[in-house]
Amino acid sequence: MKCLLVGLLTFVLCIHFGNAAYKLQERFNWKQLDFAFPNENLKQQALASGDYIPQNALPVGVEHWQNPLFVTIPRWRDGIPATLTYINMDHSVTGSPALIPYPDWRSNTAGDCANSITTAYRIKVDECGRLWVLDTGTLGIGNTTTNPCPYAVNVFDLATHTRIRRYELRPEDTNANTFIANIAVDIGKSCDDAFAYFSDELGYGLIAYSWEQNKSWRFSGHSYFFPDPLRGDYNIAGLNFQWGEEGIFGMALSPIRSDGYRTMYFSPLASHRQFAVSTRILRDETRVEDSYHDFLALDERGPNSHTTARVMSEDGVELFNLIDQNAVGCWHSSMPYSPQFHGIVDRDDVGLVFPADVKIDENKDVWVLSDRMPVFLLSELDYNDVNFRIYTAPLSTLIEGTVCDQRSNVYGPHNSVAAVKPLHPIYPKTYLNPTAKPSYVAIPSSRPSYLPPYSGSQRPNVPNAFLYNQQHNALTYDAANGPHLFPAIAQIQQIQHPAPAAREGLGSYATSRSVPWWQQHH
Ligand SMILES: *[C@@H]1O[C@H](CO)[C@@H](O)[C@H](O)[C@H]1NC(C)=O
Ligand SMILES: *[C@@H]1O[C@H](CO)[C@@H](O)[C@H](O)[C@H]1NC(C)=O
Repeated sequence: MKCLLVGLLTFVLCIHFGNAAYKLQERFNWKQLDFAFPNENLKQQALASGDYIPQNALPVGVEHWQNPLFVTIPRWRDGIPATLTYINMDHSVTGSPALIPYPDWRSNTAGDCANSITTAYRIKVDECGRLWVLDTGTLGIGNTTTNPCPYAVNVFDLATHTRIRRYELRPEDTNANTFIANIAVDIGKSCDDAFAYFSDELGYGLIAYSWEQNKSWRFSGHSYFFPDPLRGDYNIAGLNFQWGEEGIFGMALSPIRSDGYRTMYFSPLASHRQFAVSTRILRDETRVEDSYHDFLALDERGPNSHTTARVMSEDGVELFNLIDQNAVGCWHSSMPYSPQFHGIVDRDDVGLVFPADVKIDENKDVWVLSDRMPVFLLSELDYNDVNFRIYTAPLSTLIEGTVCDQRSNVYGPHNSVAAVKPLHPIYPKTYLNPTAKPSYVAIPSSRPSYLPPYSGSQRPNVPNAFLYNQQHNALTYDAANGPHLFPAIAQIQQIQHPAPAAREGLGSYATSRSVPWWQQHH
């Protein structure tokens, strides 16, 4: 549509590049993954012996820090030579580079529990220059899973590319159903004041690890960790399937609030809802059995809004993948968590089929990895086609013009995720008084970006989040008794929504394409 307006030449170009996502720029892509073997001979040997089976490798995690762009590949099937890898962006600016094992081949030996990573899913670099990797110790997926190694937290120093910590989760931190694929890292007053959180999707728990104490504990069985029985049905890439047992999955941490703690936002995968809890609770081992009322339930996102990955910027913008919509969504956390404040930052029915991971780096650039995972797991990928892509774009470009860009319009454009338009405004005036000053917090340009690499010393200063926090009006822990719903929900429940046909604006940022990719292929 946009192309038509700008003239014939541009229109032709737009058709030509019609497969590309609109705002996200494709940086790397692969038909199948390639690994940087030391030499061609060894690669041929690995292919011949079955140590390397290119069709079995599916990337699921991405993370960026200065030069390296990390990519993780779980060992779900045989023939995955390395699970923790990177692209050297000095040498490979774009294209389909071979993945280099991190920090080396030896550290990627499956089953060498003490020295290696057996399987890595999502990983996280912190602002002190450390890479946090949870080794699940597993081979296989679903009923083929074996556990040659225990779950173990591995932390690498990115300045020296050495592992500086390995900590095995305690047997009590996991159970027979445990499956952990997500990680969040919480840095407080110093680089040593660090915690990592792990979501147990199938064992329904949340595990906290303290760097300082070198100790872990598990929050178990909170009902907010469980799947919603009404949200277990999925339609992705022309496939209908049920992932009904999937509980707590994606996690994002807010900037530090005025009480000195962050808010963790999380969603079960089989759910359209987001929940929240303060890291004041998660950091406190004594609260594992005694924190039910400290968890908050926020509103539902609206239809077709399962998410597996989320991240929040230091100024409070949350990005999350929308796996049913081949899209990435956004929410500004100073707004109520209700559908009209959720935006789509980009959508692409070819390139963004299963946007498995979303990250924001130290330069506020966003990285998105898409991998067509349901086709890999439930059907078969076509290895003549591009299957895996890594996209990037500045966060500011992505949210520009969406409801998450708090500079533009406090009510936002009509591109919300659910796009079910309420008959009358449902937000209480106290949250959004148009005459009040806008809630966007301008970040001074002198603001320090990332801190120097971790050296065991104190962080030079405490983050800027207090500024953000003054305006952070979406959540409050003040209520004496929980569990309490965010106020807006009580009102939303009384609104009669129009029929789905009245959806509008969902495609504002979508690439126009009349025939979805999967209909041509299946
Ligand atoms: C594992 O699950 C698949 C499908 O989910 C099924 O076809 C297969 O028989 C199962 N195998 C075992 C050993 O249970
Ligand atoms: C942390 O705990 C683990 C036990 O899982 C131990 O092997 C390791 O040496 C400890 N590291 C530090 C720095 O205390």
